Amino acid sequence: MGKFEVIEHPLVQHKLTMIRDKNVGTKFFRETVKEISTLIAYEVSKNMPLKEVEIETPICKTTQKELAGKKVAIVPILRAGLGMVEGFTDLIPAAKIGFIGMYRDEETLKPHEYFVKLPSDVSERQLFVVDPMLATGGSAVDAIGALKKRGCEEKNIKFACLVAAPEGVKAIQAAYPDVDIYTAALDERLNEQGYIVPGLGDAGDRLFGTK
Ligand code: PRP
Ligand code: URA
Repeated sequence: MGKFEVIEHPLVQHKLTMIRDKNVGTKFFRETVKEISTLIAYEVSKNMPLKEVEIETPICKTTQKELAGKKVAIVPILRAGLGMVEGFTDLIPAAKIGFIGMYRDEETLKPHEYFVKLPSDVSERQLFVVDPMLATGGSAVDAIGALKKRGCEEKNIKFACLVAAPEGVKAIQAAYPDVDIYTAALDERLNEQGYIVPGLGDAGDRLFGTK
């Protein structure tokens, strides 16, 4: 079974509480999602493999560590996942970015895929799939399915979100048990409309000022 981790860092918790507030405007919401995403990226990347390399400092030759292993791609689930990309590229600037467009039917809550554009070598990369909200899990499960269809392996996929519902975590774990899941909060439940309770509302609308 993949890892499930709630990121308890005090800055993550404090910033998340600020953007749960319904009175927070688009600019502050967007900036803070980016800040939280940087902190999440730090946690999600903490087990990246290292190798030893020989370098020469101004003083002497020495053996030090650098990143080894697979190159990285960040895969936001559109739209709201876009709000997390810059936080990740701040720490991993050479990462490629893939896009999976997914919208959730408001009646059925079923996801609909409308766009997929991925790096050509996506199956060889370490993938960070990002979306602020994991509700029923339908969008995340379909997005991971789209990656697997293109040859990506579960062990190379990490899913990162800001707020998760228990239903969504269970859905990913049932469909793709080897995918690691990171979230800043595990909330109580979903309401009748499929919104996370207490949640933060519609992340896409709050990020982009729509609705
Ligand atoms: C939101 C969110 C997730 C999805 C989560 O996207 O960003 O992608 O809902 O719900 P689920 O776990 O039940 O699938 P939405 O469909 O509202 O699209 P948007 O990002 O374009 O606003
Ligand atoms: N999508 C959102 O943006 N918010 C929720 O609470 C659930 C799904």
